[in-house]
Formats: sequence, structure tokens, C-alpha cells
Amino acid sequence: MDAITIRNLTKKYGDGTVALQNISFSIKKGEFFALLGPNGAGKTTTINILTGLANKTSGDVLLFDQDVVRNYQQARSLVGLVPQEFNLDQFDKVYNTLFFNAGYFGIPRSQRHSKIESLLRELGLWEKRYSKVRELSGGMKRKVMIARALIHEPKILILDEPTAGVDVETRKSLWTYFRRLNQKGTTILLTTHYIEEAEELCQRIAIVHKGNIIALDTKNNLLELLERETIKVVLSEPLSVLPPSLKKYGAAVQHNALLLTINPKQNNFSKLLDDLRKTKLSIRKIETERTTLEDVFLHLTKK
Ligand SMILES: Nc1ncnc2c1ncn2[C@@H]1O[C@H](COP(=O)(O)OP(=O)(O)OP(=O)(O)O)[C@@H](O)[C@H]1O
Ligand SMILES: [Mg+2]
Repeated sequence: MDAITIRNLTKKYGDGTVALQNISFSIKKGEFFALLGPNGAGKTTTINILTGLANKTSGDVLLFDQDVVRNYQQARSLVGLVPQEFNLDQFDKVYNTLFFNAGYFGIPRSQRHSKIESLLRELGLWEKRYSKVRELSGGMKRKVMIARALIHEPKILILDEPTAGVDVETRKSLWTYFRRLNQKGTTILLTTHYIEEAEELCQRIAIVHKGNIIALDTKNNLLELLERETIKVVLSEPLSVLPPSLKKYGAAVQHNALLLTINPKQNNFSKLLDDLRKTKLSIRKIETERTTLEDVFLHLTKK
């Protein structure tokens, strides 16, 4: 059974904005899945519908076999949400925030302390348990929201831009933490516009653009969408005129380097080397640049 099923989901807001246009996809149990897209693509709208914070206009949304509208309570208890916007009570203490949230999910008082302690220790926040939320840094507040989402040990964790405004070191440690949770069996849905984050963590990625899913595949298959490689030829001295034989590689001159592109599937790398040799240019080194998810993203959203 899939952990998340979305079928023909459409969302129109009251002001006429169509945020989601008949999207369908599902996320397997145990998967680490990303919704990647620019601002306004519809990521948060999707998540809000999954967690009952927004009403769908049409379509079906299931968490395991629970319909998020018809079986709201059961569906909601299966998921932990880290929202994009801070929604903690600034005057509440960290410990109490978690204590009350545990109550919301029906965890008996006697079991709350040990759960809170282990979560706060894992996230490096135990020392701050008696601080008011307003006394924490932005990154620490984000971690409190993560702890709050996990207090009832949900089968599905939904992270809406979980590392926005978080420093590089904390981001890396959160990535490790999320990866470990996923390895222990939690299905994770993440939204991000940090392409690096999706690339680093997720097995499959859906690219969302203007309320549509314009691509959905494994990371490697998405990278293959862009079957080209950039080759940088660094020369011993600057070049003023581009050798005509290199024009077919879409060559561009950049100071003392030449940028060329080839399609690796067409296997024309040795031809390129031949052409380069014939130009008699004095070559200092050749570098190849890996296609990144960013290239794929730009390519797809431009289309
Ligand atoms: N409550 C609302 N009322 C009207 N329109 C809304 C509402 N919430 C979102 N929208 C619109 O829906 C579209 C999708 O917004 P959404 O918040 O889902 O995007 P997002 O992909 O999460 O973007 P971001 O990366 O900026 O968080 C946008 O055009 C937005 O203006
Ligand atoms: Mg959003």
C-alpha cells in the first residue's frame, strides 16, 4: 500500500487562483520523496490539503488507506508536519510546547517526558528545554517544530522547506537526522527549492511548476533528461577567434577557456578531441562538468 496517494487533485482558492491543476502521484511506504518547485508552484497547497489545513476543490487524497477528508482524525494521526511558516507560541517554553502537543495526539502524560527528552537530546535542544520559544534562534525554532512533528511517532513526516533559514552546518546535521529517520522506516515528503537538498536526500523527485507536475522520476533519470555535458577547455593563452570547426559544439569563449557541449549518448567525445587537436590550440587542461538537477530544473521550467 502506498503511504500517500493523490488522484486528480485540483485546488482553486476563493480569489480564483488555481494552485493545483489536476495532479496525481503516489509515494511508496518508506520512500524519501521531494516536491521541488519555485515560489508559488503549489507545494504548500499540496501539503496543506494532505494535512487537513486546506480544503481540496476536487480529487482524492489518501494517507495509507485513510481519506484525509472522510477519515480526518485517523489520517491526521498518521502524519507529522513541519510547516513552512513558524507557528509556535513564542511565549511558551520548549518543553511545554512538546508536552501539550503530545496531549493533542493522545499520548498519556506518563509517557510524554521520555519521548520529549529523547527527541530534544537527538536534536541538540535539551539544554534549551526551559527556554521560551522567543528566546531561541531561528534554526532552533525550526528544530522545535521538527520535534513537535515527531512526538507521536508518525508513519509519515512532511517537511515544508525544513531547512529554510538554517545555517550550512545545521542543515547538514538535519539531513543526517532525516536520513536516519527514513532508514528506520518513516516515509518522508519534503518540499524544497534547494535543489541540492532534493538531490542529496530524495529517491524520487516531482518537479512542480504552476500547479502542475512537469516531471516525476528518480533523481538519476531526471539527470539523464539533460543528455549533455559541458566540457571546459582551458588554454595557455586567451583566444580571440573561435576556430570554425568548434562551432558545432556550441562553443563559447570565456577568457582563456572554451566551453563546449556534447551529448554523451551520441558518443562524440573522441570526435571532439580530434577537432580540438586539429585546431593546434595550446591546451592546459580539460574539465567536464556534471549535469546537476538545477540544469534539469531550468530546462524543464523554461519549456
Ligand atoms: N490562502 C490562499 N488564498 C489564495 N491564494 C493562495 C493561498 N495560498 C496560496 N495561494 C496561491 O496558490 C499558489 C501556490 O501557493 P503555494 O503556497 O502552494 O506555493 P509554494 O509552492 O508552497 O511556494 P513557496 O516556495 O513560495 O512556498 C500561489 O499562486 C499562491 O498565491
Ligand atoms: Mg510553500
